[in-house]
Amino acid sequence: MTPADYDFLRGLLKERSGLDLSADKQYLVESRLVPLARRVGLSGIPDLVLKMKGGAAALITDVVEAMTTNETFFFRDKVPFDHLNGTMLPALLPARAARRSLRIWSAASSTGQEPYSIAMCLKEKAAELAGWRIEIVATDLSQEVLEKSRAGIYSQFEVQRGLPIQLLVKYFTQKGELWQINADIRAMVQHRQLNLLQDFSQLGKFDIIFCRNVLIYFDLATKLSIFERLAKVMEPDGMLMLGAAETVVGVTDAFRPYPDRRGLYQPNPTRGARPLLGGVQPALKIVAAR
Ligand SMILES: C[S@@+](CC[C@H](N)C(=O)[O-])C[C@H]1O[C@@H](n2cnc3c(N)ncnc32)[C@H](O)[C@@H]1O
Repeated sequence: MTPADYDFLRGLLKERSGLDLSADKQYLVESRLVPLARRVGLSGIPDLVLKMKGGAAALITDVVEAMTTNETFFFRDKVPFDHLNGTMLPALLPARAARRSLRIWSAASSTGQEPYSIAMCLKEKAAELAGWRIEIVATDLSQEVLEKSRAGIYSQFEVQRGLPIQLLVKYFTQKGELWQINADIRAMVQHRQLNLLQDFSQLGKFDIIFCRNVLIYFDLATKLSIFERLAKVMEPDGMLMLGAAETVVGVTDAFRPYPDRRGLYQPNPTRGARPLLGGVQPALKIVAAR
């Protein structure tokens, strides 16, 4: 790959998905895109870039998807689900008792292990939540991971990563060598394709947002833009759960850390009108990819 091809791909990925590749990630691009080029009958990355410059929209979508990292597993990192069961639900269920509804968003939900882990936590409280309307919205940029998530079918390896055996037995059905999460849990999760760089105000307001292990791929200005917009779709007493390597600290004061709960944040009621990164305007010009 020539330096010019790499620069073109970096620019395109930043614009389409927010992925902020440093100057030394050629190996990553090659490891993901050479197999893709071969699959579509092209000789390599130079050919791929040529086709993309010619405006091959479907190919551009494939390239953007191939460059996403979809690593996930059930009850990933454990702590967020301890916070869900031990802090978020105990605070929010009494607060929502009058309207008996709860809206949860798994932003960047990948192949579904995160939203389904949330759904199982709520299903475990079925008696307490009888008559409640529970909405779990799972979104991701990648159509491919969303398809897998909708199907809810996982390999033996995937169900062995993080999922307690009692929950496997209770909520999954074995299909040959695979396991499918049961229809009642699948029905708790609505899937939608959504790029976090784009406007998501149409999703409505949420009580809980899990936005984990996706912001790490973005630059500061993109993180800031996403935090500002997440704050706008969150109820004033809502809660935001970030990934272990992610924080709002030093990026925005739209959220403030929840005391003694690592990775958990709430909208900041006392924030000023201005974001902390005064003057930085994220480049959010999106060219329609699909
Ligand atoms: C590493 S996975 C995280 C999955 C899950 N949240 C977890 O923590 O286990 C990151 C996901 O972010 C998605 N993603 C990347 N860029 C995105 C964007 N601009 N908008 C929405 N999703 C994006 C990828 O497709 C991928 O499925």
